[in-house]
Amino acid sequence: MKAAQNALLEALVDTGIMLSSERSIDALLERTVDAARELFGAEGASLYLAEEGSLNFKIFRNPALEEKIGPDGVRETYRMRPIAICPGSIAGYAAHSAAPLVVADVYDIPAEAPYRFNTSFDELSGYRTRNVAAQPLVTRGGGVVGVLQLVNVKDVRALSGPLLRALGAFGAQAAIAVENTLLTDKLKRSQYETITRLAAAAELKDPDTGDHIRRISDYSRRIAIAAGLSSDDAEVVYYASPLHDVGKIAIPDDILLKPGKLTDDEWLVMKTHTTAGAEILKNPESALVAAAHNIALCHHERYDGKGYPGGVKGDDIPLLSRIVSVADVFDALTSRRPYKEPFPLETAVEMIVSGAEKGQFDPDVVNAFVREFAAT
Ligand SMILES: [Fe+2]
Repeated sequence: MKAAQNALLEALVDTGIMLSSERSIDALLERTVDAARELFGAEGASLYLAEEGSLNFKIFRNPALEEKIGPDGVRETYRMRPIAICPGSIAGYAAHSAAPLVVADVYDIPAEAPYRFNTSFDELSGYRTRNVAAQPLVTRGGGVVGVLQLVNVKDVRALSGPLLRALGAFGAQAAIAVENTLLTDKLKRSQYETITRLAAAAELKDPDTGDHIRRISDYSRRIAIAAGLSSDDAEVVYYASPLHDVGKIAIPDDILLKPGKLTDDEWLVMKTHTTAGAEILKNPESALVAAAHNIALCHHERYDGKGYPGGVKGDDIPLLSRIVSVADVFDALTSRRPYKEPFPLETAVEMIVSGAEKGQFDPDVVNAFVREFAAT
């Protein structure tokens, strides 16, 4: 018994470390339900997050059910409406009371109990739920951020005493991880807003700038993922790419806004938006600003070394800059401008490919771009 308890304790500590290192909320929820199923010997587990006074279903894992009705069947069965945080349902009861609820036989709930088991899942899927354990995810501040629900725990009678306390500890760990990840998400969103507003300030006179900035972010991230970059790098390029033209803030209006063709001298000034951007972003203290610096400086460099401002060549151009230069040109091609209609997607993709053939872009980046965009 002691050995089993120690093993569980160890597993709990390991899970806590694993959960606290997960930064994406979707991945975190997935890992939470997987770990819960494993630790407590449950056939299935699902997770709800408390949002605006209700529990919203987020994720469900039950290999036995998935095998029986397939992934489409699971999606269909679990197209659920939010559950009220009140004692009428098992998950609602756990969230409302901020205490775990173990129901050993969901088809034999005493009439006086305030909660009921929703039999529609079993009816829809043909699955037989025997027992359910609902553990609220309670933060250190006492707030309930969600509910973890275990289904068909192998030895449900054992889910009391130390094991139930272990489930509580697991819920607390998951709650902290969820709370932190949601906070980080919020922080990231506000950071992105700051970045895009700063970027928009540089191109304030162009009414399409906001959309352009968001598209550059989106395209750059998609190319990065298609090129096999890590999700961290893809995120960095998503956040840093909006600042590629931030140096335009230093370009005089009569050049930046000139409707006609620029003279050679004006063009020389226009090109300095790259070095001006790098000046704004120099001496970075974060990886994000370091990437933004490189992107601002190098997004008009060409793979064959014939670009500006440095004439840097090949892989000496930072990879994220090579990605943003494809995204930037692709967006220019597919956007309406006062002097041109947008090119159709297929034509724009062909033009990017031919740009790579002529030495403008990194061929590997363009291959990734084609895989991502030619199919859509
Ligand atoms: Fe530019």
